[in-house]
Amino acid sequence: MKTVFGISEARSIVKQWKKEGDTVGFVPTMGFLHEGHGSLIKKARENDKVVVSIFVNPLQFGENEDFGRYPRDFEKDCLFCETYGADLVFHPDVSEMYMPDFCTFVDMTGLTQNLCGASRPGHFRGVCTVVAKLFNIINPDRAYFGEKDAQQLAVIRQMVQDLSMDIEIVACPIVREPDGLAKSSRNSYLNDEERKAALVLSRALKYAENMVKEGTKNSAEVISAIKRIIESEPLAHIDYVKAVDGLTMKDLEIIGPQTLIAAAVYIGKTRLIDNFTVK
Ligand code: PAJ
Repeated sequence: MKTVFGISEARSIVKQWKKEGDTVGFVPTMGFLHEGHGSLIKKARENDKVVVSIFVNPLQFGENEDFGRYPRDFEKDCLFCETYGADLVFHPDVSEMYMPDFCTFVDMTGLTQNLCGASRPGHFRGVCTVVAKLFNIINPDRAYFGEKDAQQLAVIRQMVQDLSMDIEIVACPIVREPDGLAKSSRNSYLNDEERKAALVLSRALKYAENMVKEGTKNSAEVISAIKRIIESEPLAHIDYVKAVDGLTMKDLEIIGPQTLIAAAVYIGKTRLIDNFTVK
């Protein structure tokens, strides 16, 4: 496995592979890798070569968010990538990704107005901009994204369609801890008490999933059941609980196939997200 820091170096390695006829799968990450990322890397091995980027993107963090303290462990991440079968780790510098005169952004309307887009202004502008840059550098055949970040996945699909990018976007299911908590780099912020309290999120969503399976179609009813469960946990504070169309991210009154039920909850100071899509 190769590790590179420079944009031109990464680009020329991938170019050579493509010249030799290899297909390239790409897994963009912010590092501090866990089995959620691992499942994407594994899936990407359906290509001849797999590239993983590790870049904590300052552009997608708000002013009062956790960019400075976002967990980082590059050496451990490299070992992790090697174990999962990556061929190249691309770890660019902020200073090369965003030169002092940087002034071009990829922004999106509609899809980004609700859910995390509403709570985190500018977040998806940062995500779209960095992912568009990474796509231009790596030029992959396929790119892999987790359903854990369901709105991000929809936003990336829309960007690829709108900007005619020749890249197949592959969705990968949420990987959870044995007790149900969705794996996340941010889980490392939780102390023991918070870790226990965090379970309320997956528990509430599981309860809602069963309600829907048993025939409840009214969004308000499902949302208030989720809220009631989450509010029973003193350490939890709801950011949002919503039922939306899985493609447009617009609120829905009636739940149907492809409805996304998504929630963001603060456990202490840590913001966690989770969701499920109605089958
Ligand atoms: P990061 O949070 O590191 O996540 C990288 C990828 O891993 C995303 O596609 C995310 O959905 C996926 N992922 C994270 N936890 C997962 C889990 N428990 N199960 C399945 N997939 C999971 O998302 C980002 O980074 C950034 O926004 C990025 C796309 C890299 C742009 O900076």
